Amino acid sequence: MKRSLDEHAARFDEKAAEYDDTKSDEYRACASLVVDHAAPDRDDTVLDLGTGTGAIALPLAETAGRVIGRDISEGMLAEAREKAAERGLETVEFGEGRFRDPNVPDDADVDVVTTNFAMHHLSDAEKREAIDVIAGLEPRRIVLGDVMFFGEPDPSEPFYGPEVDDPATVGVLADAFTDAGYALTAVEPVHEQVGVLVAERVGDGERAPVGAEAEAGAAAESEPETESETETES
Ligand SMILES: C[S@@+](CC[C@H](N)C(=O)[O-])C[C@H]1O[C@@H](n2cnc3c(N)ncnc32)[C@H](O)[C@@H]1O
Repeated sequence: MKRSLDEHAARFDEKAAEYDDTKSDEYRACASLVVDHAAPDRDDTVLDLGTGTGAIALPLAETAGRVIGRDISEGMLAEAREKAAERGLETVEFGEGRFRDPNVPDDADVDVVTTNFAMHHLSDAEKREAIDVIAGLEPRRIVLGDVMFFGEPDPSEPFYGPEVDDPATVGVLADAFTDAGYALTAVEPVHEQVGVLVAERVGDGERAPVGAEAEAGAAAESEPETESETETES
């Protein structure tokens, strides 16, 4: 991360009041795809990380059972709460939470996780940690819209500032999801540097083995079976 969490929070506190007036077509397309792909059921709980002023959380609160919006900027959260009140939405709650410590209420069982234009503030290693934390909540679907590189990074593009942002390649993100037990089911390029990834939990409610666990499993599979191993297993 090129700035501390407090510095990012302060930057967004400052922009909060004007944030909604400064959006690009690509951002809007990305947000719309995230909402469409999240597609929560009536009784689903959605966790929206880096929720900002509620671009994703508020429309999802129209259809989901419960939406939990988390962010580090109190200024952005205040805007989101105001909009929820104006729209009379009672299924959405906004509060402090961060990618690697989302502060999910004890009584929440998260079905879908969304995040739009926020994860690129983390370094690649931190994104991987964040994806592992999200996977630990065992949602069936994760929808990530963000600045991401389908081709070569180009700092002259308007979607990120190299001094504060740290976007990943699509390959790095895809690997992180796969290693966390999720399979990519949709890849939606919006621009060469903006897109949406949809990841679904692998297996029928069971997490796929991750990291060292997966490597150990693969090594065991490739070893010739001995009599004693067969006996132990039976
Ligand atoms: C560009 S805004 C996007 C807001 C919203 N998701 C949207 O689509 O409009 C990025 C948001 O991510 C938040 N953010 C940055 N780093 C974060 C972190 N580590 N954990 C949670 N939120 C973070 C910022 O405070 C900001 O509100």
